[in-house]
Order: sequence, then C-alpha cells, then structure tokens
Amino acid sequence: MPATILVGTQWGDEGKGKATDLLAGETDFVVRYQGGNNAGHTVLAGGQLLKLHLIPSGILYPHVTPVIADGVVVNPGVLLQEIDALAARGIDPSRLVVSGNAHLIMPYHLEIDKVTERYLGKHRLGTTKRGIGPAYADKVARIGLRVQDLTDPEIFREKLEVVLREKNLLLAKIYNRLPMDPAAIADEYLAYGERLAPRITDTSALLYRALRDGKRVLLEGAQGTLLDIDHGTYPFVTSSNPVSGGALSGAGIGPKEVDRVIGVTKAYVTRVGSGPFPTEDLGSAGKHLGERGAEVGTTTGRARRCGWFDAVLLRYAVRVNGLSDVFLTKLDVLSGLPEVKVCTAYEFDGRRYEDFPPHQSIFHKAEPVFEDMEGWPEELGGTGRFEELPAAARKYVDRISQLGGVPIRNLSVGPDREQTLAVDAA
Ligand code: GDP
Ligand code: IMO
Ligand code: MG
Repeated sequence: MPATILVGTQWGDEGKGKATDLLAGETDFVVRYQGGNNAGHTVLAGGQLLKLHLIPSGILYPHVTPVIADGVVVNPGVLLQEIDALAARGIDPSRLVVSGNAHLIMPYHLEIDKVTERYLGKHRLGTTKRGIGPAYADKVARIGLRVQDLTDPEIFREKLEVVLREKNLLLAKIYNRLPMDPAAIADEYLAYGERLAPRITDTSALLYRALRDGKRVLLEGAQGTLLDIDHGTYPFVTSSNPVSGGALSGAGIGPKEVDRVIGVTKAYVTRVGSGPFPTEDLGSAGKHLGERGAEVGTTTGRARRCGWFDAVLLRYAVRVNGLSDVFLTKLDVLSGLPEVKVCTAYEFDGRRYEDFPPHQSIFHKAEPVFEDMEGWPEELGGTGRFEELPAAARKYVDRISQLGGVPIRNLSVGPDREQTLAVDAA
C-alpha cells in the first residue's frame, strides 16, 4: 500500500492538523518527518480540541500508530508533557514511537535561539524560540545529541561535556549569559530518557515493514513550503525541509513508496513572524480574515498576518512538492466580504511574474496583480455537499484550482472534522 505525503503550501498554519486527523481515519501510521515543537497543529473532533506540537495528528484514533521520525528535532521534556497531557484527558498515547536518530533540542539551543534573535534586533526572524534553528545547526555541524544517546548515560555525558565546553564559551563570552552545568542537564535528560526508552525505535525499518505488509502511511508535514530552508523565503524560514522531498529523507523511505502528495492550502494566506508577504492586507479585509479565522498562533499566541489568496505561491508549491491534489481549508472565513481578491501574478520593475520570482529581492518588492471576484454573505459551516455552496463560493474554489493547475479534492468549511466536503470539481 503506498504512502501519502501531506504538506503545507504556504507559510504554515494552513490546517494540516485538521486535514491529517480527517485522513488518518483511513491510515495505519501517521508520521511527523521534520520540524519540532515550533509546530502547532489543531484537531477538533468528537468534542475534543487538541493543540499538538510534536505528537502526530492521528493520535485520536486507536488504530493509528503515531511516529516521530528521524528528521524531527525532539525536546524530550516537551514531548513527555504532551504525552502526559493527552493521557490525562483519556487519549491513549501508548502506541507513539520515536526514532533513535532524531536529534535532541537541548537547553542551550533554547538559550541561543533567544539571544541570537535579540542580537538581530530589527532584522530578527521572529522564530518560535523553541531552539529549532540551533538544534538543526548542531545536527549539520555534527555536534548534535540524538534520542538514542539518552539510553547510553556514559556516551550522553561525554558528548554533552564536549559540546558544552564550546557552548558555554559562546553563552558567557559572546552573549553575556550564565554558563550551563553539564551534570544538571545530563541528570534531567537521562531521566527523560528512562521514560522514553520503550518508545525508541528504528522508525524507518518499522515503516518499511509496514508498507510491505500493505499498511497505509501518512506523512504529516509541519510548517509549509515557503518556510522550507531551501525553497522558502530565506532567511525568513525554518531550519528544516517541510517540502515533500523532506518527507522521504526525514522518514527514511524511498520515493517509490509514495503515490499521493496532498497540499494543504488555506483559502487566504497568513504568516507568523517576519519576512515578505506580497498579498498581506493591513486594512479591513485583513482584519476580517484575522478575526473570523481566529488567526492567532497555536504555538506562540502571536497574531498572524493575513492577506488574500496567492495563486503564484500555489503554483510554486505544486512544482516543488509535486502535488497531486489540494485540501482547501477555511473557505467559511471569507463569508461576509463584499468582494474577494485572488492574486494571479506579481509585477516588479515593469515586468510581470506568473511564477515565483527567481530572486528574493524581486519577491520582497513584488506587487500583487489581483483578480476581483464576487463575495458571498452566507455562512458555510453547515454545508453538507459541495453543490450546496453559494455559486460565488464554488466559483472561487474552481478558480483557485484553475490558477494553481491542481485539483481540489477536499474542502474544509469549519474547524471540526465533520465540516469537510468532498470535491469532484476541477
Ligand atoms: P496547522 O499548523 O496547519 O495544523 O494549522 P493550525 O492548527 O495552526 O491553524 C489552523 C486553525 O484553523 C486551527 O485553529 C483550526 O482549528 C482552524 N481550522 C482548520 N480548518 C478550518 C476551517 O475550514 N474553517 C475554520 N473556520 N477554521 C479552520
Ligand atoms: P505549523 O506546523 C507558522 C515560523 C516562525 C518564524 C520561522 C522560523 O503549525 O504550520 P523557527 O522557530 O521554526 O525557527 O521559526 O518559521 N514558523 C511557523 N509559522 N506555522 C508553523 O508551524 C511554524 N513553525 C515555524 O514564526 O517566522
Ligand atoms: Mg500551526
């Protein structure tokens, strides 16, 4: 049975948690393959509201095995808190497994994330301050500690001692912070290790066997295409590869295992943190989207910047992810706007760009070319079938599909699992 990859097509918060939860109904394994607890994925189903940061969004189903794979960066204290919080609510996290190859977010990563942002001043990225960038940096610099190290106290203490020698110099001499005590960190982390040990698994081998046995695997992306370290709006990006290619390396499976790549796309655009955003609307429309869409960060509680739908970004996401289809979310949020706009291209310096511009400076200065479409006053949350939507809303969905050059197969009209329509159009 082939695997499916689910990715965000914008700057995150497209509704990947909702889409994953819905699709997990027919899935055996749900796998987080990159990112860490910078993610905030919301699931609303059966009266349960979950805000998940590290645990895959299939957790509500007893038949699903949630997997945290090799490409994720794990803060073990946060993971255990999330496990405990779910268990306290009667949700069974016992099947969750974690790759031994996943890298650990250490206390000094959190500290370095904070101080480097402070030093960047007005040039700061607006990170989630969860230590993501510094943890991935150490992984690539080959001085990271991994989940498997938690089960070998001697090697853990030795590696930590070596790394902290340099980190403490950096913290104390450059950033004027207090040095950290390796023994205290080791004691704390090794205690986490004892609790996590039964879950530590070769998850790549587990998924390989599962796929051979005809099991269904859903790879749940965090962040989004425009936050990708290679393909996003660098440097205003995260430090991993959310794109579909990252799912393969992050989970340790081959490309032939995958036959569907779903792009989760919001019916408008939001962005948290700094960086360019051509269709951002600072006026009444942006306010409408922010308020009706409750656009407040799931992880940091920051207000999300809001703007009109951007078809250039969707076409780009189709290309870099090889999308087979789109799961379109939050259409209901547009209700009540007299007119809705869709960005079809950009203009800069007298030139028109139908595709994502090849140079970042162009993207920073790009002026959106908008197509105006008719709005609709009707609330959509109770719609049962696509055909029942107001004609203007159907036209909007069809236009997005046409401009993106990609079919839309699912349409979400509210946060609840039930508020999802199948679409046969386009
Ligand atoms: P993720 O990071 O991609 O999983 O998205 P988030 O969970 O951070 O943000 C999406 C927000 O929109 C959450 O609060 C969801 O409950 C909510 N949501 C998802 N789909 C819909 C929808 O179709 N309509 C509305 N009104 N809210 C939605
Ligand atoms: P989900 O999975 C939205 C943004 C941060 C910042 C940049 C770098 O919920 O869609 P980082 O802490 O990763 O180094 O921050 O990336 N960012 C997200 N924005 N949704 C997310 O995750 C995000 N994860 C990181 O706001 O601009
Ligand atoms: Mg989110």
